[in-house]
Formats: sequence, structure tokens, C-alpha cells
Amino acid sequence: MTAVQHDLAQDRALRSRAEAVIPGGMYGHMDVRTMPPGFPQFMSEGQGAWLRDVDGNEYVDFMCGWGPVLLGRRHPRVEAAVAEQTARGDCFNGPGPVMVELAELLVDTLPHADWAMLAKNGTDATTACVTIARAATGKRRVLVARGAYHGAAPWCTPRPAGVLPEDRAHLAHFDYNDVASLREAVSAAGDDFAAVVVSPVRQDVRREQELADPGFARELRALCDAAGAALIVDDVRCGFRLDLRGSWAPLGVEPDLAAWSKAIANGHPLAAVTGTDAFRPASSSVYVTGSFWYSAAPMAAAVATISELRETDALQRMADAGEQLRAGLAAQAAAHGLEVRQTGPVQMPLLTFVHDDEALTQAQAWTGEAVRRGVYLHPWHNWFTSSAHTPEVVARALERTDEAFAAVARVRVRV
Ligand SMILES: Cc1ncc(COP(=O)(O)O)c(C=O)c1O
Repeated sequence: MTAVQHDLAQDRALRSRAEAVIPGGMYGHMDVRTMPPGFPQFMSEGQGAWLRDVDGNEYVDFMCGWGPVLLGRRHPRVEAAVAEQTARGDCFNGPGPVMVELAELLVDTLPHADWAMLAKNGTDATTACVTIARAATGKRRVLVARGAYHGAAPWCTPRPAGVLPEDRAHLAHFDYNDVASLREAVSAAGDDFAAVVVSPVRQDVRREQELADPGFARELRALCDAAGAALIVDDVRCGFRLDLRGSWAPLGVEPDLAAWSKAIANGHPLAAVTGTDAFRPASSSVYVTGSFWYSAAPMAAAVATISELRETDALQRMADAGEQLRAGLAAQAAAHGLEVRQTGPVQMPLLTFVHDDEALTQAQAWTGEAVRRGVYLHPWHNWFTSSAHTPEVVARALERTDEAFAAVARVRVRV
């Protein structure tokens, strides 16, 4: 077994400076204090499937920037498109022609889409979808699955601080994949039912992932059709990773409105809302905008990213990497006598320990051992593969995860 050398001195120094000038030292989903010891907070570089922290430690990265990195970091085609646009300028008094090119590409790629609007973050996109749905229907009630994440605006943030009951007054809940609870929520909404916001996969933090039951997805479509409500698919996390036509296309369920971000521009800041002609008048009636929503370079990145996905086998390579990782981890866990479960789509994997406790001690220990050996995984949020995770890279990662399992198995025996 290799000796573990993992110095985080520079990281510690930056964390201590951050304490003075950044609220709480760090905030949001990238605050690594919720993670086991060994996870660096500050990063310095990335290339392909690799990431380097400020202390020079290198990782095979299975978080992909929490989703945005789809083709690998610094992908030549994407970066060339960004450089070419940036050389001519990025922030103008109006968008570049690339906005039209990208909207055409989205409409051509996504079967449900008759139009596209562009924004920055996933929260912009989900919030705009809700606003458009309310404008279109003149109704208020929006249904979401209990525990699902749709962004950090007051209507959907998971933390209650600073949020008023009024911000959520017209939000109601159902249980994912539970048709009875969905029907109940729809019936309670009565004639005030504006929309359902739903993720293609159940990916609530701190629990196993759950694929959508096709019957549940079809029932959602039927209930929205019957009531004239909008079916909003939140494809911010899964979008362009599972299926180029939209993540529920294989189920034959098309959204009225869909929210996109994360992987749409391979790490460059961009989000999109797409929709059907029925929602076109409402989408042009609402006022949604932002200073950076029209920047040309991220749009050029998106055109290059989506074109690469359309013209190559990148999607298949992401899935192959996920299959290889899943099979390798399953064999290793079994060899170490550890019972694990692997859930979700293979491109968005998650491993949980069957006999773990509430605090997820085993998952924390295993991912902590892995990160110290140069594999960046997460104890309770799904991971991501990219098309840069070649068979060789995944094999390198697996050598190290095996050692991490061995360390966890030893701890378990001692307990
Ligand atoms: C399913 C889903 N919806 C919405 C969001 C919000 O996106 P953003 O963080 O870009 O605002 C996320 C972010 O993780 C997400 O996973």
C-alpha cells in the first residue's frame, strides 16, 4: 500500500485568511467543512479529468466542478471557441450573433423546444420557468418533490434563514415516484395549479439516488395536461449528460418548460430555459434579465460543447467511464467484505454503505481516505463522470479507491 502524503498547508493558510473576509469563511455547496478531513478548499488548476489543489496535490476528479465539466477541463474545442469570441469581446451593449446560433442549436437539439432564453445559473433558469408558468396560467400553486433541490432563491432554497412563509406561500409538495401523493397535491391545488417542477432523477442529498419511474413521469404529464398546468423539468444537473434530447426523452415524456445550466457550456457560466410554443407568449411577457446574461463567450462555449456532443461519442464515453467505475468499486467493496449500494445513472454515480450510520461515518471515512490518495469523490452528493475519464484514468482512480476500501475495512474491524 502506498504511503499517503497529503499536505494542505497552503490550503489552511487560505482558509484562515478567508475567515476574516468571506462570510463564515466559505458558504454554499463548495464549503468543504461539511466534508471529511483531507478535502482541500482551494484549487489551482485542472486539465481533463484531473484537478490540482493549491498545495499541488493532484486528484482524479469525479465531481467535475459539481457537474459543469462534461468534456473534461480545458477542452480544446470549447476553449478555442471561447478564446476566439473573447478576442473580439465578451460583454457588449447587446448579445453577439452567437446568441441566435445557440438558441437555434438548442431548438434543433431538444425535441420539445420551440424557443430558448439564456441566463447564468440554474436558479435563474428554474425561477424563470416558474415565473413563465404563472404568467401563462394566471395561477399560483407550484408543486415540487419533497427534498428536491431546485436552487437557492427564497422560493426553493433548502435553508430557512431569511426566508419568509410568504415566499413559499404557494409551494406544495409531493413524494418523488409516488403517484398517490402527486394526485393528492394536484387535487389540493384545485384550480390554482400553475406548475410542477421536477428533476429527471431523484438526487436528494444524503440519500440513495432513485431513477424516475416511467409511470410516474407519464402521470405527471397527464395531470399537467388535464389541468393546463406547466410541466417544468429541471434538467440543470442531468441535462446533456444522460441524453442529448433531454433527460426524460427516453421515457417519452416531454416538458413544457425545461431549465438547463451546469454542463451546457462545459464549465463556462451559462443557463438556459427552453419551452414550447404554447408558452412563447408568456415567456416574452415576463421581465427576466441580468447584466451578464448576454455575455458572448459562454454562449460560444455552449455552441462548441453541444456541437461536440452531437458530433462525437462523448456521451457514450461518459457512460462507459461510469460503468467501469461502478463495476470496479463493486468488486473492490465485495473483496473487502463491505456491503455497498451504487445508485443513480452511471454517469452520475453515488456509492453508499449499507450499514452506515446517520452521520454517514463509513462514507465519510472512505471518501476521506480516497481524497488523501488522489481521488476526489463525495460522501453524500452524487458524483459526475466526463468524457475525459478515459479507461486509463478510471483504472488509476480504482487502484486508489481499493486502498481506501482497505483502510475503511480495517477501521470497521477495530470498532
Ligand atoms: C437539479 C438542480 N436544479 C437547480 C440547481 C441550481 O443551479 P445553480 O446552482 O446553478 O443556481 C441545481 C444546482 O445544483 C440543481 O442540481
